[in-house]
Amino acid sequence: MYSVRKILRIGLFAATTFVVAAAFGTFSSDVASADGHHYKERNAAMKSLGGNMKKLGGAVAGGNAADAEAAAKAISAVAAKMPALFKDKEIPAESRAKPGIWDNMADFNAKAAALGAAADKVAASAAGGTMGSDPKAVVGSIGATCGACHKVYRGPKA
Ligand code: HEC
Repeated sequence: MYSVRKILRIGLFAATTFVVAAAFGTFSSDVASADGHHYKERNAAMKSLGGNMKKLGGAVAGGNAADAEAAAKAISAVAAKMPALFKDKEIPAESRAKPGIWDNMADFNAKAAALGAAADKVAASAAGGTMGSDPKAVVGSIGATCGACHKVYRGPKA
């Protein structure tokens, strides 16, 4: 009896872990919130945004619509994950997140959605051949939404 119950329990644990991992996709299966993991994940996500903005600028300057579309789509995918990444209030010493995020979650998530919408627009224009060749204009159309959120919800460097 004991061993059967133990096996069942292990099975249940494994299933739970799987569901959690699936929900968080590529970021991590480790969603414990009290130990800094969310902070690390959202920080890595933000850095990937910076990287993809650089890629986007290079692709626009080089006239490479396919690369520009891919970079814009990657940005949009991160924007879609932001509500989950910032779900739990977690502000370790090295974090620049302002506590106001968690008092204004709907507004914060709306700003993340604005980022996603701006990136989707760029992806569509790249796919449709109407992107233009000015990296400043294209990158700036997304960058404005980065700044709109940082201005309110990101503090100075710790
Ligand atoms: C909805 C709000 C929001 C949007 C939109 C947003 N960010 Fe952020 N970003 C934050 C917050 C909050 C932090 C601080 C997180 C922390 O330190 O815990 C941050 C931090 C960063 C960091 C700093 C990482 C570090 O090492 O401290 C970079 C780089 C960054 N964002 C880039 C971007 C770029 C590029 C975009 C747009 C393509 C963007 N972000 C869009 C909220 C946002």
